[in-house]
Amino acid sequence: MPDEAPPIIQVENLTRVFRTYRKRPGFVGGLKGLFHRTYEETAAANKISFSINEGEFVGFLGPNGAGKTTVLKMLSGLIYPTSGSATVAGFSPRDRKNEYRRMFSLVLGQKNQLWWDLPAIESFHLLRHIYGIPVKIHRQRLDELVDLLDVGAKLDVMVRELSLGERMKMELVAALLHGPRILFLDEPTIGLDVVSQRSVRRFLSDYNRRHGVTILLTSHYMADIETLCERVIVIHRGRKIYDGDLAKLDTTGSRMKIIRIQPVDSWPADWTAPGRILSSDGGEITLEVPSDQVVDACQQILATAAVADITIEEMPLEEIIHQLFSADH
Ligand SMILES: Nc1ncnc2c1ncn2[C@@H]1O[C@H](COP(=O)(O)OP(=O)(O)OP(=O)(O)O)[C@@H](O)[C@H]1O
Ligand SMILES: [Mg+2]
Repeated sequence: MPDEAPPIIQVENLTRVFRTYRKRPGFVGGLKGLFHRTYEETAAANKISFSINEGEFVGFLGPNGAGKTTVLKMLSGLIYPTSGSATVAGFSPRDRKNEYRRMFSLVLGQKNQLWWDLPAIESFHLLRHIYGIPVKIHRQRLDELVDLLDVGAKLDVMVRELSLGERMKMELVAALLHGPRILFLDEPTIGLDVVSQRSVRRFLSDYNRRHGVTILLTSHYMADIETLCERVIVIHRGRKIYDGDLAKLDTTGSRMKIIRIQPVDSWPADWTAPGRILSSDGGEITLEVPSDQVVDACQQILATAAVADITIEEMPLEEIIHQLFSADH
């Protein structure tokens, strides 16, 4: 039997507790706070374990505040774990070794990492010096990345003058110039229009396939995850609650659709809604209906009352995760 390669990322019981101090209101509160500060402890990551094989493209999901960024920062050595361990490409991120820095990149969609007042191309040259990348290899990688992301015309533009989408593409170029084996992407498509989101997605998918780079991606856009990741890890309140195929996670929620209906007047008193009522607000009703019953449900609704407006939506990712959480935990 051939030897199985060890996982490139191995995380065991990774935990990070943050201590947040509470200031009492007012001046007296401030004075009291000098002597007696109250604090709360939050386990942003609570005994999280998983392993990822080289070349995998894994989605990292969870509602706001779940602990995703905290885990990515620990894997990048930006913050230390309170307990537990992580090994990435044979390194312990907390040691912050220079060799490890060459192995990975972290892209934070909410934060600009390029030099704001320089054209992107100058940042790319600076990065060549910082990482000691040989000129020829730098040239090849830059050409490939610029071509794949189609940003050739914008290389000489000051970063602060770029659009959000162009800036994110430049961030991706910068993150990949040193040829990392692992890429941590924290909401790389946040705020981008659908066209830019799509081109970033296509790029990531191509790049992952071409170079076998291992990618861990967080996003609140289900389309990102659906297009790119076969496997997802879901965390909620610092704990891992799911790790497996996205297809199987889907069965817990996204086979449902949301129907919103606004009646012209009101609903008949004896009406039975053709699905679970999620909210009912001043006449407007929001229903959750299994996807294969949406047509029947709409017919029943339209036959019941005069309808001013009706919309059908996919189950939002947050809702799927919420349901996953409430179902099993
Ligand atoms: N430096 C910090 N000090 C104190 N608490 C923090 C700190 N960083 C994060 N937290 C807390 O840890 C928890 C997890 O935060 P984190 O940023 O990891 O969530 P997230 O899953 O990335 O959420 P989002 O989807 O909103 O980006 C939150 O409750 C947050 O308030
Ligand atoms: Mg985050």
